[in-house]
Amino acid sequence: MSPLMIVIACAIALGLAFIFIFLCTVLVGAPYVPSNGGEIENALTKLYKIGKKDLLVDLGSGDGVVLKHACQHGAKAFGIEINSFLIWISRWRLRKFPGAKVVLGNIYTTKFPEETTVAYVFGDSRDIKAIVRHINHESKRIGHPIRIISNAFEIPGMKPEKAYRAHFLYKVDGSEIKFK
Ligand SMILES: C[S@@+](CC[C@H](N)C(=O)[O-])C[C@H]1O[C@@H](n2cnc3c(N)ncnc32)[C@H](O)[C@@H]1O
Repeated sequence: MSPLMIVIACAIALGLAFIFIFLCTVLVGAPYVPSNGGEIENALTKLYKIGKKDLLVDLGSGDGVVLKHACQHGAKAFGIEINSFLIWISRWRLRKFPGAKVVLGNIYTTKFPEETTVAYVFGDSRDIKAIVRHINHESKRIGHPIRIISNAFEIPGMKPEKAYRAHFLYKVDGSEIKFK
């Protein structure tokens, strides 16, 4: 095989792996759709004033855009993502922020850092209750409340503390949640 053929074969294999990983993630949760930068900024200032006191966990952190906004406000940030391509992209994007970490993991089982104060969720409607259950479980485990910022989806049966455009702010403290 000529060197050119080898390069073409590698490019095709990489492309197929890329498509395969993106298709697989759709089976386990929301597809990759990044939040809008301006709306993230509104959520982290007008809805919940994020700052140095905070550690934000993004459940399904995509390309790291939400984590970057959180870090720009002085917060620490922790991303959980199942797609390894997106992890590489987000680690590159966050390389100048030592307070940011992204792990390969499942949003329903990954433990949060003890200092977590806020969780960001942009999933889809079929996942929201299970995601909130896990956040509530983690709140109980780490022993303090966690604010939830949900992009685009309200949590059925929970009253938001605040809403701003497409973002909703909730608080969980480990006590039982009665979803609708
Ligand atoms: C709608 S995107 C949101 C990305 C980012 N949070 C944002 O707002 O820009 C959802 C992300 O969750 C990831 N995801 C879906 N299911 C997951 C799971 N079970 N565990 C970890 N990540 C998951 C997808 O790969 C995708 O990057």
